[in-house]
Amino acid sequence: MVEHLAIIMDGNGRWAEARGLSRSDGHRAGARQIGVAARAAMKAGIKYLTLYAFSTENWKRPQDEVGVLMGLIQEFASSELPAMMRDGVRLRTIGRTGDLPLAARTALRYAIEKTAANDKLTINIALSYGGRAEIVDAVNKIIAEKRTDPVSEQDFISYLYAPDIPDPDLLIRTSGELRLSNFLLWELSYSEIYVTDTYWPDFNEETLQKALDSYSGRKRRFGGLNKK
Ligand code: IPE
Ligand code: IPE
Ligand code: MG
Repeated sequence: MVEHLAIIMDGNGRWAEARGLSRSDGHRAGARQIGVAARAAMKAGIKYLTLYAFSTENWKRPQDEVGVLMGLIQEFASSELPAMMRDGVRLRTIGRTGDLPLAARTALRYAIEKTAANDKLTINIALSYGGRAEIVDAVNKIIAEKRTDPVSEQDFISYLYAPDIPDPDLLIRTSGELRLSNFLLWELSYSEIYVTDTYWPDFNEETLQKALDSYSGRKRRFGGLNKK
């Protein structure tokens, strides 16, 4: 049973290129697909959906592409709010979200507050997110507390961005790349991995079902023997 699904939403650019469209068109199509994926996840009984939308490294992209992505994030937060309220979806974010433009931050904060009590599905969007940045930010929180006693793994988790969310059971990466690209380095330690060649804007219920079918045939061992 997948309680927490994490997705690296990759391939917007290649999807657009294959159609003779601009990268911005690809990102727009990708943003629209988030609702499709969320509804499919809800139908499958998934409780947490963490989506990699913008990495700490993605700031290196051309300024106009970054601008389009920031605009889409802002638009997503406001245009999807009625559907999130209707469907019982709670919105959260992880990452250095303070780096986002004010308009995006404001729209996100509003949607996060409005949806805070919803409990059917939590959509956790990773924005200006890096797995290394998350660990470094945790270390700096510990330093700021002037804590001097030793830190256990369990203590350390409490300093991460979303300590209350269980680790992902399954990671899906779209568009065929076989790498983590700095996503959830701590949390993915024992997650199952599924890579599909499908570009993110083509991801749908059927793609998700294939990933879940693959997951259900796997044996998770967590380093032990025969642990399901
Ligand atoms: C994913 O699509 C979206 C982000 C990383 C923001 P890409 O823009 O990485 O698409 P490709 O990998 O160039 O096809
Ligand atoms: C990972 O995709 C980040 C997101 C999907 C937001 P990238 O396209 O940035 O990753 P690389 O550069 O191919 O590793
Ligand atoms: Mg990419």
